[in-house]
Amino acid sequence: MEKIKFDFNNMFSASIGSAHGVSQQDIDEILPEARLCAGHLKKIIANPQARVNLGLEWVVLFKQDKKEIAKLQKLGKEIAKKYENVISLGIGGSYLGLKAAQDALCAPYYNEFKPLRKRSPRFYLEGNNMDPDTLQVLLKHLLPKKTFVIIISKSGETTESKAAFALVEAWLKKGVGKRYGRQILAITDPQSGTLREKVKREQKKDALSFRAFPILKGVGGRFSEFNMGLIHLAIAGVNIQELFSGVKEMFDRCSQDDILKNPAYMYALLHTILYRKKAKSLAILMPFSQTLKSTADWYVQLLAESLGKKYHRKIEVDNDGVENWLADEGSLFSKGRTPISAAGTNDLHSIQQNNVEGEDNKVLTFIRVEHFRTDLKIPGKGDLLSGKSFSALMHLAQEATEWALASENRPNCTIIMPRVSAYNWGALLFFFEMATAFEGELLNINAFDQPGVEGYKNYMYYKLGKPGIAQDIANEIKNHPLIKDPKYIL
Ligand code: PA5
Repeated sequence: MEKIKFDFNNMFSASIGSAHGVSQQDIDEILPEARLCAGHLKKIIANPQARVNLGLEWVVLFKQDKKEIAKLQKLGKEIAKKYENVISLGIGGSYLGLKAAQDALCAPYYNEFKPLRKRSPRFYLEGNNMDPDTLQVLLKHLLPKKTFVIIISKSGETTESKAAFALVEAWLKKGVGKRYGRQILAITDPQSGTLREKVKREQKKDALSFRAFPILKGVGGRFSEFNMGLIHLAIAGVNIQELFSGVKEMFDRCSQDDILKNPAYMYALLHTILYRKKAKSLAILMPFSQTLKSTADWYVQLLAESLGKKYHRKIEVDNDGVENWLADEGSLFSKGRTPISAAGTNDLHSIQQNNVEGEDNKVLTFIRVEHFRTDLKIPGKGDLLSGKSFSALMHLAQEATEWALASENRPNCTIIMPRVSAYNWGALLFFFEMATAFEGELLNINAFDQPGVEGYKNYMYYKLGKPGIAQDIANEIKNHPLIKDPKYIL
């Protein structure tokens, strides 16, 4: 299989000058620190208990038992054969990976055209927003008997997916009758949470209803595509073993100790230098492929939730040598590069103006796809474009965008993906995950929690009257209400 390549040339001062590029001295200065971080990460990854405790179990998901994967593919096929539609409910990490996978690995316009779906059902991803309009339309037009429902929530408590599931469950019950639970699959925490409790209750009534898969311990939502996302891949007929081969290949490359040869470590290292020394705080991911736009959206969550943190990490080691990571409230961080998702060539007529001439605070990552699944040739004669292929123009546009930025001394790098296959896509996701984990080490923060997401949830729970809200949180909300001075409402 052809491997992904990484071109970091335009990150260096040789290409873009010393005011904005990384110099050899910058690399030499950071390397001792980076080697310590790499050693620390390696130690955690090698220790199963530490991996689970600290949220790094996702690193080994590609090693899942082949027989279990074969069973999963079989179940996927059965669901695909029986149903015309799959509604999947989930948000954040329980949604973005599915959307990214569907757009990358299923044919474009998959839902619209039956021959493209082959024997697979249409997919509808819901429960990722409180907007009532979309779900309403869906439930009005789909037939419950022809629809399979997957609810994904690690906690089982997330408002968006919980609310949507309540509605979809009632719709299914009404349309299918007593055995509606056989059309539901729940992916949630292996032991705890309200969704797991519901699974247990429903299975007691009917053992064939509410089939369930676990989101494994130590696998956080945004790192869970190779766990919670597998059944979707199986239903869509994607070869999971091929995907895992790609992940394994990238795992091997990203396990190299030599930081300068390790693509994920280099990616994180160069971005960290540019962030610390050149104030490049915006990270724009711009795949030159429409099918990878949602992968860029997935990456936004990965980077934002993993690296945008208030406090540094305090490492405590217990008597057995096991680490615990706590927020060090005495050491304010309040940083983290801000990710933005874009797409070439669409956004060359949008954000690109700002990228080239606007505030000089960005690093762009392009994804260049070498071979598209198909190609189109522009008909006619005599025009500049006549006889040219779309893929050649796409490649030229990507090269031109690199040039336009480099000529303005703006840092950028390119991930060269041979093709958007399960093998390469799996490798791509894993690369970003490892790069993010390593950047967390360099920043000395906990990349595997997301305490900042709790603020809005707490406020909603408080206003909804949820029992058990901690007193300090309730006081904080009571004592700091939103100010709505009419003077400023025009
Ligand atoms: O990365 C994460 O852990 C979060 O984004 C969660 O995936 C998201 O909040 C959804 O949570 P849950 O799966 O518990 O519904």
